[in-house]
Amino acid sequence: MRVLGSYNEAGGQGKTTSAVSIAMCAAEAGHRTVLIDLDPRGAATEWIDVEPKSAGLHIGSILANDGVEGWAEELAVPTRWHKNLRVIPSDRSVSNREKDSTPGLELRLRESLADLDADVVILDCPNRQGGPLTLSAFHAADAIIYAASPTSDGVSGVRGAQRSVAEFQRLMERMNSTTTLREAGIVLGNLSETVISRVAKNAIDELRETGLLLTPIVPARTIVQESRTSGEWYGHFRKGEPVLSAYQEITRKVLQ
Ligand SMILES: Nc1ncnc2c1ncn2[C@@H]1O[C@H](COP(=O)(O)OP(=O)(O)OP(=O)(O)O)[C@@H](O)[C@H]1O
Ligand SMILES: [Mg+2]
Repeated sequence: MRVLGSYNEAGGQGKTTSAVSIAMCAAEAGHRTVLIDLDPRGAATEWIDVEPKSAGLHIGSILANDGVEGWAEELAVPTRWHKNLRVIPSDRSVSNREKDSTPGLELRLRESLADLDADVVILDCPNRQGGPLTLSAFHAADAIIYAASPTSDGVSGVRGAQRSVAEFQRLMERMNSTTTLREAGIVLGNLSETVISRVAKNAIDELRETGLLLTPIVPARTIVQESRTSGEWYGHFRKGEPVLSAYQEITRKVLQ
């Protein structure tokens, strides 16, 4: 089982778009996939239009309890989108965990994945640095995908995220932990191709210099935003094809 987290320390960088897109591309490619929405705002939950199997059975219950081995399998909800795609939904109340200092809280997500019947798990992270939600993702993930838009916020958000990953790696090393968190690469998305501004060019250059840039760059298409509002997969629309094919190739790369 592969566990990938979609992360950036700035807001509005395409974390959710990339998490949902990679999860759906993995599902369509035949991988049994579970998308876990770790963001209390629940953007992925809303987009895929899923609800907990019963009240309270969202990601918050995993993060709020001890002895959660195997809970992910119980909480994963089938989707209308694809038979290979299940989702563990989020909820506004998940934000309470950001103020929760229970020792070991950040290990619960990883523990909950025991015996999960999936080939691929994708974590949609909130843009909070260092808190219990992000740390839960770092402990659970094998690799982090940095999602970025071609803006200066995108670049600084990736830099911040890389520092957090490096700090986490050092901490794990000091604790002689066998956990290794890799960087899967940077997904650069939402690039408007009509006019590529100087800001966008600079951002692309700076992200390329990290050596982590995954290609192709994902183009901007309004259908992505529209399909989110209507709870649909943009991949079902002809206008979404350029975005879909970019994410398909990126998915192949991050899963190989
Ligand atoms: N390829 C694309 N084409 C068009 N719009 C896009 C594309 N990628 C992302 N967007 C839009 O950019 C906005 C931000 O994307 P998204 O919500 O995925 O970012 P995020 O990093 O998850 O944000 P947050 O920090 O709020 O969680 C959304 O309105 C989304 O629809
Ligand atoms: Mg998001």
